[in-house]
Amino acid sequence: MANQTPDMNFSPGADRAPAPAQIELQPIERPVTIRTLQRMVDAGEPFACLTAYDALTAGHMQAAGVPVLLVGDTAAEVILGLPGTIHAPLEFLITLTAAVKRGAPNCWVIGDMPFMSYQVSLEEGLRNAGRFLVEGHADAVKLEVDLGHTELVRRMAHAGVPVIAHIGSKPQQARRHGGYYSDGRTVDAAERLIEEAQAFESAGASMILVEAVPSEVAAHIVKSVRIPVIGCGAGPECHGQIVVTHDLLGLTDWQPPFAQPIDHIGDAVRQVAAHWASRVSRRAHGEHPYRMSEGEAERLDGRDESRNE
Ligand code: KIV
Repeated sequence: MANQTPDMNFSPGADRAPAPAQIELQPIERPVTIRTLQRMVDAGEPFACLTAYDALTAGHMQAAGVPVLLVGDTAAEVILGLPGTIHAPLEFLITLTAAVKRGAPNCWVIGDMPFMSYQVSLEEGLRNAGRFLVEGHADAVKLEVDLGHTELVRRMAHAGVPVIAHIGSKPQQARRHGGYYSDGRTVDAAERLIEEAQAFESAGASMILVEAVPSEVAAHIVKSVRIPVIGCGAGPECHGQIVVTHDLLGLTDWQPPFAQPIDHIGDAVRQVAAHWASRVSRRAHGEHPYRMSEGEAERLDGRDESRNE
């Protein structure tokens, strides 16, 4: 992700994995629903999730066969260049969520509820969750929660909002912890996470998302609930796996160890931009696509001449 401690020694090209081999694409041809995902979980098939922030990229992800897209509040960092996820504006995320759903209508699109869009009151949280579904065309919302949010999750689920309860490391809490952190490193912390997962399942959450915990802890959470568990740096036992797309694309300066770049699109972007700059400086634009109608160029020159007389 963009705003984690950047590696000041970052040098493109160093210690890179070779370009990945081509994989046959299996597009998402029918709309993914919560039942589709539950069936995959019951069949023991893990499902891929990625962040998406625009319609065109979302379309590529649907074509690639990624069933779940999250319009994460990481958009604050990777799209807006802001210093943390807490700066993500609500209206902006709702707009992006609608764009992603338009670009990938068959994917299950999750809208991420930004900082202070659900913390102030139950009513405001409920109304904003509704906005993600109604205006953003989201299939579900995700919010960072602890046991204090059980009633909010219950009210959302009761209203018909599919909720992903995000537990473990919660970037919106980073300031309280003095930075990004991992969770579940002790038995007490692991038990708290299991208790939270069970409480949110009982409150009606559709899924749990657990971020940055040891894999043993995620495995216990998976065993403790019947609903799907998506992991973000939580080990292989989780049913779904999510990372920030820009990390995998190699567009960010720093990536967490569980989301290392699969390709280095940043280099390709720089090369294309440099080629364009070089073409412009050499006036090397190739053949121009537009022509004036027969005889018009001469008439235009004629007018210039008479104007200058
Ligand atoms: O905002 C985000 O991108 C996230 C994840 C990567 C889980 O919350």
